[in-house]
Amino acid sequence: MTSTITTRHRRIRISLWIFVTSIMLALGGAYFFRAIGDREPPPETRGEAAIRSDFSLIDHNGKRVTEADFLGRWQLVFFGFTYCPDVCPTTLAYLGNVLDQFGGEVERVAPIFITVDPSRDTPQVMADYVQAFHPKLIGLTGSEAEVAAAAQSFRVYYEKMEEGTAPDGYLMAHSGHMYLMTPEGRFEDVFREGDQSAQEMAADVLARMNGKQ
Ligand code: NI
Repeated sequence: MTSTITTRHRRIRISLWIFVTSIMLALGGAYFFRAIGDREPPPETRGEAAIRSDFSLIDHNGKRVTEADFLGRWQLVFFGFTYCPDVCPTTLAYLGNVLDQFGGEVERVAPIFITVDPSRDTPQVMADYVQAFHPKLIGLTGSEAEVAAAAQSFRVYYEKMEEGTAPDGYLMAHSGHMYLMTPEGRFEDVFREGDQSAQEMAADVLARMNGKQ
């Protein structure tokens, strides 16, 4: 009788031990996988490495172009819109000054302005706009979906905002960074007007073009 009770107690104790151990293993496993997940986020959230040049758009001459048309040149890419009251004209004027610093090396660069407001920024509107800033500046537009896909590939934020005093009652909020992409279309760096003079930015880009950085 006594021995039966002892055996049953032992069985219960062993079952309990197995139960607790299983729970600890399960929790430990979950923690372990989450720890690994924290250290190594999926590629699409890895920031700079995830920025790539990938688009199919219409240039300001009405011709369809993709990132492949600009391979072999260092690409300076900026997103904005022609009705922009501040950031775009300031940044594009600055970019024009940067391009002027390059001299003959400007042929190795593709300065690209991509609109985030394609419903108003037709190829003709883009042509008039970019030519006001620099003869080398290339304006790109497309359908809403094509522009969204291009912005997504560069990880660029933009958003339509109601604004009663603005033309047509809206503005496009957008990030103000210029992306420098290598001739292979890989991300190199971002620049912002106001962070350095046009001379400094041109010198920085030229140094990378000539492999000094
Ligand atoms: Ni703007």
